[in-house]
Amino acid sequence: MASFVTERVLSVHHWNETLFSFKTTRDRGLRFENGQFVMIGLEVDGRPLTRAYSIASPNYEEHLEFFSIKVPDGALTSRLQHLRAGDPIVVSKKPTGTLILHDLRPGRHLYLLATGTGLAPFLSVIQDPETYERFEKVVLIHGVRFVSELAYNELITQALPEHEFLGDVIREQLIYYPTVTREPFRHNGRITHLMESGKLFEDIGLPPLDPAADRVMICGSPAMLSDLCTLLDARGFEISPRIGEPGDYVIERAFVEK
Ligand code: A2P
Repeated sequence: MASFVTERVLSVHHWNETLFSFKTTRDRGLRFENGQFVMIGLEVDGRPLTRAYSIASPNYEEHLEFFSIKVPDGALTSRLQHLRAGDPIVVSKKPTGTLILHDLRPGRHLYLLATGTGLAPFLSVIQDPETYERFEKVVLIHGVRFVSELAYNELITQALPEHEFLGDVIREQLIYYPTVTREPFRHNGRITHLMESGKLFEDIGLPPLDPAADRVMICGSPAMLSDLCTLLDARGFEISPRIGEPGDYVIERAFVEK
């Protein structure tokens, strides 16, 4: 257990029957870049049972926050979904990950493309002041099947625009575009289709994708990543080949099989 620290659950929020999030204490020694993930989990029979989770809270907060699905027969989430305030949870000491601002070349518009719990890393990225220093517009697109899966929409549309320090830049620079695929909503359709058809760009009032101006971070299912990589590659975007080598876009799998 030397590479893990035991934290305590501070609170748990259930968004619907399939999604929940929770806050934990944070070790004073834990440093991370917004967008990174850690391994978290429970001690089962003296051993840590852990999975990768993006840190949803920004790195200046005193607590950590995680956003999870509930997989009924998932080794970890079948247990995690019963967490209560005060319960112990193990957190790895070494955050890592590819969804970091430093691995993007300079640009004008930052697109954050998420499906499902792939939203988590972008919650910390949109609360990072540097995001708004580096990009004129930040477009957060969250694709889900059902409206009830649009977790954190009140944080994004109500709390953050009123944020004491970031409210002004968020109101001016952040564009939030939730889209639902399996029931009526103000925006419908997959992210890929909305980009290919140009509807997304019409709706938000920005020009179509351009590798000279746009930078992209993607977090979702393997199929979603694959389709978006194909779409971006066809438009001349270059992926960051590895951590520390900037590109026009970066990707990370939403860690779903839990
Ligand atoms: P759809 O309802 O058309 O499958 P999932 O829960 O399967 O990860 O899906 C989350 C959201 O991502 C859904 O809105 C789903 O749309 C969408 N999605 C699934 N596969 C892709 C893909 N290959 N490209 C873009 N969006 C996708």
